[in-house]
Amino acid sequence: MNLTLSIKNLYVSIEEKPILKGINLAVKRGEIHAIMGPNGSGKSTLAYTLAGHPKYEVKSGDILMGKENLMDMSPDERARAGLFIAFQYPTAIPGVSMANFLRTAVNAVHGDKGTVDKSGRKGISIAKFRKMMMDNMKLLKIDNSFASRYLNDGFSGGEKKRAEILQMAMLNPKFAIMDETDSGLDIDALRVVSEGVNILHEKNSMGIILITHYNRILNYIKPDVVHVFVDGQIVKSGGQELAEQLEDEGYDQIIRIYKEN
Ligand SMILES: Nc1ncnc2c1ncn2[C@@H]1O[C@H](COP(=O)(O)OP(=O)(O)OP(=O)(O)O)[C@@H](O)[C@H]1O
Ligand SMILES: [Mg+2]
Repeated sequence: MNLTLSIKNLYVSIEEKPILKGINLAVKRGEIHAIMGPNGSGKSTLAYTLAGHPKYEVKSGDILMGKENLMDMSPDERARAGLFIAFQYPTAIPGVSMANFLRTAVNAVHGDKGTVDKSGRKGISIAKFRKMMMDNMKLLKIDNSFASRYLNDGFSGGEKKRAEILQMAMLNPKFAIMDETDSGLDIDALRVVSEGVNILHEKNSMGIILITHYNRILNYIKPDVVHVFVDGQIVKSGGQELAEQLEDEGYDQIIRIYKEN
């Protein structure tokens, strides 16, 4: 049960520019790790690298889920292994409805475990899928009309973030990386999304890496550990008090200490 997502001495470059400079991080299932840090410190780069985005070149290091090496896997294989990334800037797919997108995603990730429908196609049945979608939409207080809208096309900032979390709820991952899921959410949406994340976290004993700039989401989603990113490295780790300290004092002092060493 104690499956661990292990990031070992990870160096990543984008177009030959070093961005991540030796990241070490181990997240067990059921744990919540928050990552904070100034703009441009490499937080989203970590998320893209975990997803397997081809632009992010791993120079050295390893990413393991239990004994499985994610580095040998394509992005869709990583998703099937149980990894989910909610990106900071979700992309729109005009012409593809939310419901169709979700069904395709669920089948792509869990299709092999699904049933065979009347026409002989493998995958989750329409009825089962609809129920699962409606249950999760209710959980995240998402309006039913969402299902028939085109994915992220004309969605408000907050709606896009909720759509990401709906996708996460549908895919039921072992590990989720949420990149600034809280940015753009109003106070009510923040609470609803956080409650949803907490329920999923408990239900599936999900391991979570939560990237955020603000302490406020950590009032709802309680991290076990808070890490501070500066210039592609984790320069400090601590408990929730570290997040509070950062919010009060900013990053100046931590950056100064880091540069002196
Ligand atoms: N696709 C890309 N092409 C070129 N440079 C990139 C690319 N993605 C990231 N970078 C650079 O890598 C560095 C780290 O960016 P990253 O997006 O990981 O930072 P971040 O910590 O997520 O910042 P923020 O808090 O603003 O979201 C920045 O200098 C950025 O300009
Ligand atoms: Mg970012």
